[in-house]
Amino acid sequence: MTKAFVVGHPIKHSRSPLIHGYWLQVHDLDGSYERIDVEPVNFGDFLRSFGERGYTGGNVTIPHKEAAFAGVDRRTERAERLGAVNTLWIQDGLLWGDNTDVLGFIVHLDQSLGTGWEQSVDNVMVLGAGGAARAVVAGLQDRPLGRILVANRTLSKAESLVHDLEGGAVRLEAMDWDRIGEALAGCQLVVNTTSLGMAGQPPLSIDLHTMPDDAAVADIVYVPLKTPLLAAAEARGLRTVDGLGMLLHQAAPGFERWFGVRPQVTPELRALIVADIEGRI
Ligand SMILES: NC(=O)c1ccc[n+]([C@@H]2O[C@H](COP(=O)([O-])OP(=O)(O)OC[C@H]3O[C@@H](n4cnc5c(N)ncnc54)[C@H](OP(=O)(O)O)[C@@H]3O)[C@@H](O)[C@H]2O)c1
Repeated sequence: MTKAFVVGHPIKHSRSPLIHGYWLQVHDLDGSYERIDVEPVNFGDFLRSFGERGYTGGNVTIPHKEAAFAGVDRRTERAERLGAVNTLWIQDGLLWGDNTDVLGFIVHLDQSLGTGWEQSVDNVMVLGAGGAARAVVAGLQDRPLGRILVANRTLSKAESLVHDLEGGAVRLEAMDWDRIGEALAGCQLVVNTTSLGMAGQPPLSIDLHTMPDDAAVADIVYVPLKTPLLAAAEARGLRTVDGLGMLLHQAAPGFERWFGVRPQVTPELRALIVADIEGRI
């Protein structure tokens, strides 16, 4: 039997076991995917011993993504760029790390807005400068955009993000949080990567009225599925992209590495996770 895991601290709220469990069942595979709670002080030992304990690999979540980056033997180019690892596997005796959040975000954006959406987008605003913002910016940087503005409550963190990721063809600029309102008028896409709008957090209150009529609004927060930001965008008649697709699509590459089958993100899987988010299962 092939065994995989998601490791974090705390870990009991992770939806990854539901996603991978669904795929194991659909593909009738002899495998398992477990939650493992590991405190930061023990993470190094865990990283070095999971292979001996019979695991093929797994996902890494908060707060271990940077420690996983530091502890692997080899990293994909994507992980190298971001300084964080969320997917682990062993290959030819070496411990490998990838970051699939980048792919998860951009695949879902393409599916939601339609391939070629970049043709009508020059400026994108990314709100937030945490770990998820790095994955979002890295995904957007691969597209022929004019400029990515990164606005964060703590400006120095936006500046560090820009410093660490700049270098491609797309211009990156850190921006003061107070200037969001005026800058939105020139943006065709805005992406929330802050935790604002998440259940239990205050909403993200920004005025979308100055945005062009054909603009799109994406939120990577997925609890609730329709955040106050997405509801405001809908009311304004803008296109919206929710956060659940990113979560589902980031899971697929890991599943393929561990279990050897490329899984699909189907409407049925999405409905299962939505039911879980809404407390119906
Ligand atoms: N859909 C997905 O698959 C997916 C994947 C990863 C993460 N996420 C979601 O994305 C969100 C961020 O995750 P993360 O890992 O990037 O977290 P993180 O590293 O802790 O970053 C949090 C970000 O939110 C900002 N923030 C927090 N409270 C704020 C407030 N009151 N006002 C303004 N900004 C505030 C922080 O700004 P400061 O720097 O000023 O503190 C920072 O930019 C979470 O809700 C997470 O669930 C979704």
